Amino acid sequence: EAIPVHQRSIALVGLMGVGKSTVGRRLAKRLDLPFADGDIEIEDAAGMTVSDIFASMGEGEFRAGEARVMRRLLEGPRLVLATGGGAMLNPNTRAVMKARAVTVWMRADLETIVERVQRRDTRPLLRGKDPLQTLKTLAEARYPIYGEADVVVDVAGGAHAQAVEAIVRAL
Ligand code: S3P
Repeated sequence: EAIPVHQRSIALVGLMGVGKSTVGRRLAKRLDLPFADGDIEIEDAAGMTVSDIFASMGEGEFRAGEARVMRRLLEGPRLVLATGGGAMLNPNTRAVMKARAVTVWMRADLETIVERVQRRDTRPLLRGKDPLQTLKTLAEARYPIYGEADVVVDVAGGAHAQAVEAIVRAL
């Protein structure tokens, strides 16, 4: 089932706020590949926002839908995919990623992430919570899993254009 690197999709993983969507869109342009944003695909499929899905159906339903959307996108034509921060936690999603994509962990220090997520209130996991403390807990649980990515790129502080170039160099 494994496919050669040059035919693989590129899946960006990492915590919310590291810039997966913005960098992914630019990276796709740079590589002349289609781009998809996992969260937006889920919103389109569900006909509501990620926040509303969490609020009305709960995180479990969101995760189930997310896994279906990840599989559909990764089994389709080659693309750059910005995944939601929790997508890689699903073992099935992880397996499809391993088979079909080069995974890139975009890593930034938590202070940078806090600054970025505070610009927009779209993250249900942070709502009403101390963002740094919550991100610390998420990082502890997730970094071992993100660490399975094929490539790790540090993006803290840098401009998006730099992150794009760092990823292109690392591919
Ligand atoms: C989540 C990250 C979000 C979104 C949802 C859950 C997570 O995506 O999928 O709020 O579990 O980290 P971004 O990483 O694009 O913010």
